[in-house]
Amino acid sequence: MFEGLKTKVSEIVAGPARNADQKMLDICTLLKADVPHYDWVGFYFKNGDKRELKLRAYAGEPTDHTIIPFGKGICGQVAESNQNFIVPDVAAQDNYIACSITVKSEIVVPLFKNGENIGQIDIDSNTPNPFSEADERLLEYVNQKVAEIL
Ligand code: SME
Repeated sequence: MFEGLKTKVSEIVAGPARNADQKMLDICTLLKADVPHYDWVGFYFKNGDKRELKLRAYAGEPTDHTIIPFGKGICGQVAESNQNFIVPDVAAQDNYIACSITVKSEIVVPLFKNGENIGQIDIDSNTPNPFSEADERLLEYVNQKVAEIL
């Protein structure tokens, strides 16, 4: 699944966009446009030496949560667990940071560079329980490609 999308992502990574930030923005825009259940797509990265994440590129509505401490919310938990995190129903999560009242579900997949968890891709969906292993494999692929240009 998502094979055509993976090809488009690798084309962006290999393509002429100016820098890694522009390529990540293009990937966010592509994923949001091509996958009906992706309503907000963003990349967060560890902010220097601080135990916090900083938003670096996104497509969708602007969010107030441009800085997220490690351990807080789904994103902050993934920064510490190094594991994919699928939330089928955000209302059932205690440790969750709401970005928009329309969001029903979320997936966060860590991004590794040289074996180190340096960031993550975060997807919000307005659809309940839409995420499957196919999304995990797609987003792992995306993160591997992005790691090549960081
Ligand atoms: N919901 C996330 C916060 C980031 S926003 O979705 C853009 C969380 O709980 O970590």
